[in-house]
Amino acid sequence: MPSFKTLRGDIASFHDALKDSKRVLALCGAGLSASSGLPTFRGAGGLWRTHDAVSLATPGAFEADPGLVWQFYGYRRHMALQAQPNPAHHALAELARRMPGFQCLTQNVDGLSQRAEHPRAQLQLLHGTLFDLICANKRGCRYSRVDDFTDPVTPALAVPTSGADPTTNEAREVAQDLDISDINVPLPGLSPEDLPRCPKCKKNLLRPGVVWFGEQLPVKVLDNIEEYLDEEEKIDLILVIGTSAKVYPAAGYVGRARDHGARVAVINMDENDVPAGGWKEGDWFFQGDAAEIIPALLKPTIGEVAVPARV
Ligand code: APR
Repeated sequence: MPSFKTLRGDIASFHDALKDSKRVLALCGAGLSASSGLPTFRGAGGLWRTHDAVSLATPGAFEADPGLVWQFYGYRRHMALQAQPNPAHHALAELARRMPGFQCLTQNVDGLSQRAEHPRAQLQLLHGTLFDLICANKRGCRYSRVDDFTDPVTPALAVPTSGADPTTNEAREVAQDLDISDINVPLPGLSPEDLPRCPKCKKNLLRPGVVWFGEQLPVKVLDNIEEYLDEEEKIDLILVIGTSAKVYPAAGYVGRARDHGARVAVINMDENDVPAGGWKEGDWFFQGDAAEIIPALLKPTIGEVAVPARV
């Protein structure tokens, strides 16, 4: 028996609609990766050490203290690499392989969809990814390196461990990685020499290829989405998965998809996270964990989801 609740519509009518669908969009947020063990933005309390996480995700913060901002992102890269894609990432990747008209728009930077081998042409990374490294002088130098999963990026960015001997019982009980998001765990200040440098211009530091507050979303990604929305053929469905859908332009895509004929299915833990513009006739709302709901919703089209042991 499923442990999720159907608050609008029913699963049978969703399956019928999916069978007749050729063009499907998904709009994903942090809730997609929650059951992989990565905290959502609201869930994390928003603090990293004493810093508001949002205030660290700005070009100004990087300019003022690149060492601190790199420690924040080095930690996020490390945590994302410890996490594994969950059945929802694998199910969406399989839908993409089977349905050429499926496009997945994600606000997540954690690389889990990529590691589930979601076809790249059907994955639009609205906020970039932690695993692209770009020159901090974005406009001048333009160096970028994609899918760099090195951890740590430099030796100084290694997440400190408890130091316990991994063969002892104690180490099995004590987490090896220290939680450096906690201010009580000491962390050294870093200087620019400790941080990755751009191999092309050799002058500037490298930074993570995520979109920071106050920055433009990647033009190529926005163009790809516009091209998809502008096609003449209607859009059948939009799945709104684990996102509070409050941040634009992502939030606006639900309305845009509706304008092109789409019915809306929301998959969310929180019953109050309703789509912008409210509910319409024919919508679905499945409340619970995306990792359970997405494979169940897509099953008639993709079959059982195979989850590899570790990727
Ligand atoms: N399954 C489904 N939904 C879940 C789960 C789960 N296991 N766990 C949490 N959720 C839902 C929450 O109820 C919430 O609606 O996921 C959503 C997460 O919301 P946010 O934390 O606001 O994350 P997101 O919507 O991805 O944020 C968008 O805002 O701060 C910026 O750039 C950041 O990309 C981020 C953007």
